[in-house]
Amino acid sequence: MEIKILADADSVAREAAKIIAAEARAAVAARGRFIMAVSGGRTPWQMLRALSGEEVPWADVHVFQVDERIAPAGDPDRNLTHLLESLLSHAPLRPEQIYAMPVEEKDLAAAAKSYADTLQQIAGSPPVLDLAHLGLGTDGHTASLIPNDSVLDVTDAAVALTGIYQKRRRMTLTYPLLNRSRRVLWVVTGAEKVKMLARLRDGDLSIPAGRIRRENALVLTDHASAEKLEPGVSRG
Ligand code: 6PG
Repeated sequence: MEIKILADADSVAREAAKIIAAEARAAVAARGRFIMAVSGGRTPWQMLRALSGEEVPWADVHVFQVDERIAPAGDPDRNLTHLLESLLSHAPLRPEQIYAMPVEEKDLAAAAKSYADTLQQIAGSPPVLDLAHLGLGTDGHTASLIPNDSVLDVTDAAVALTGIYQKRRRMTLTYPLLNRSRRVLWVVTGAEKVKMLARLRDGDLSIPAGRIRRENALVLTDHASAEKLEPGVSRG
């Protein structure tokens, strides 16, 4: 796991966008397509807005969601609402290149299975993402792999559902899928992440984020989050 510390959240967002663009160009050159999955929360949107200004082979890009809250279409809680605003409305992507998690379906278990099927159609069997973008929660969650939820034990499905977390159930990619990604890009900013970032750095398996594969993982963070990290990590 490589950790790169940048000045502030804006620099992190811009650097993340450059890295994603470079990964996209390399994946398309090597395999004809770039398949990435993007987390929700609040941090990613500045990164995705910056990505729309980068040199990306957009026609061959496929964007999946890492997780989604079970909420109505257009709800501000929905990660898709922000994903469409920050990426689709600025980058030359066709709407069908963004694969929304089907969280408005009545049968959510069937919906999770159908999303896993779509992943297989696009990313192969078993599906392999070129890049998984992950955030880090202040309780050590990532994606919607949340503490003490049975979703942490799912080993036979790529997509699963959580119990209620912060007032909503969620649909999420699972460890088996995320840990097959060619590249994991962590984007972690803000003073509230200091403790969990140090535990992530230490590979603390007692937090959900600690169980994400560390080879090919890059953490982009800012000084506010990196206060407790060793001075040895590269400070960009
Ligand atoms: C979600 C996200 C979640 C997020 C972390 C960190 O739907 O809430 O997918 O896993 O990545 O909560 O969020 P921030 O990086 O925005 O703080």
